[in-house]
Amino acid sequence: MILVTGATGLSGSMIIREFAQQNMSVRALFRNPDKAQQFHGLSDVELVQGDMLQPESLTAAFRDVERVLMISSARERMVQTQCGFIDAAKAAGVPHIVKYSGKESGVDFDPDKFRGTREHLEIERYLETSGLAWTHLRPSQFMQFYLPGTLAGVEAGQRELRMPIGDSRLSPVDIEDVAKVAVALMRSDGHEGKAYDMTGPEALSMKEIVEQISEATGIAFRYTEISLEEKLQELRAKGMPEPAIQTLNEIFAERSRRPESHVWLQTHRAFGVEPTSFLEFARRNAQAFLR
Ligand SMILES: NC(=O)c1ccc[n+]([C@@H]2O[C@H](COP(=O)([O-])OP(=O)(O)OC[C@H]3O[C@@H](n4cnc5c(N)ncnc54)[C@H](OP(=O)(O)O)[C@@H]3O)[C@@H](O)[C@H]2O)c1
Repeated sequence: MILVTGATGLSGSMIIREFAQQNMSVRALFRNPDKAQQFHGLSDVELVQGDMLQPESLTAAFRDVERVLMISSARERMVQTQCGFIDAAKAAGVPHIVKYSGKESGVDFDPDKFRGTREHLEIERYLETSGLAWTHLRPSQFMQFYLPGTLAGVEAGQRELRMPIGDSRLSPVDIEDVAKVAVALMRSDGHEGKAYDMTGPEALSMKEIVEQISEATGIAFRYTEISLEEKLQELRAKGMPEPAIQTLNEIFAERSRRPESHVWLQTHRAFGVEPTSFLEFARRNAQAFLR
């Protein structure tokens, strides 16, 4: 049996749907029954409730599990959640954990300057020395980050992207691609001790991203370069919690310091997944961009 945690989140929900699409059995861990309702009616999906921070709640989730795809939120005590979960999985006899990690557009961020990089690396090291078989799947920034409603993406109703990163380029990846790779990885053998980085197929400036959204929607969007301080003020005004603002503060600062992004498609190729371009992504989500 394959277990996927964080099943009700942005990545987890697309991954569970990809399993269902391929008629592959999967167990989905959720903690909020309301959010798990989206999976009702998917016959290959077994829903199990549990909290990754409470090992005693995970007994049913771990039963007969051969491999776990471990996902949790970057915003919520990620190190404590995932390292505790690794301990609980080991105690339950789970042989192999695939960590859903992250790597910024194929460029190494300074772990001392960006908490996300630091925490993913800390968890990766913890897993590697746990005695369990391990694999890391490391997507770069998600294309979904640019959709309206994500607080940091395109301004809902304004047709405008306001960013403080100058001419920096990024190679965002479509989570749909990551989901296809994740399912292929979870259902095949031979991935122990390996790390799979993934970016999208192009390194794009914010101006180019906005041009592609305009082309896909047929409506003119604009890119406005703003200062880091302005961006942080705007996020505060929208009610974003301070820890999340600090994370974005660090990530925007790192992107300004490292303006180039690599494109890394070996993982797409290794698993036979066609890379989705940003234009294709924007066309598929044209209605969402126009909200
Ligand atoms: N944003 C990016 O561009 C990017 C790029 C590469 C990698 N990543 C990494 O991808 C990972 C997933 O991010 P995401 O945005 O897809 O996820 P997300 O939407 O934040 O969802 C996280 C999921 O984890 C669950 N969860 C958190 N704590 C839990 C606990 N104690 N017990 C059980 N479930 C728990 C949440 O449950 P609830 O639904 O109940 O809250 C939710 O389903 C993160 O580690 C992030 O660093 C992000």
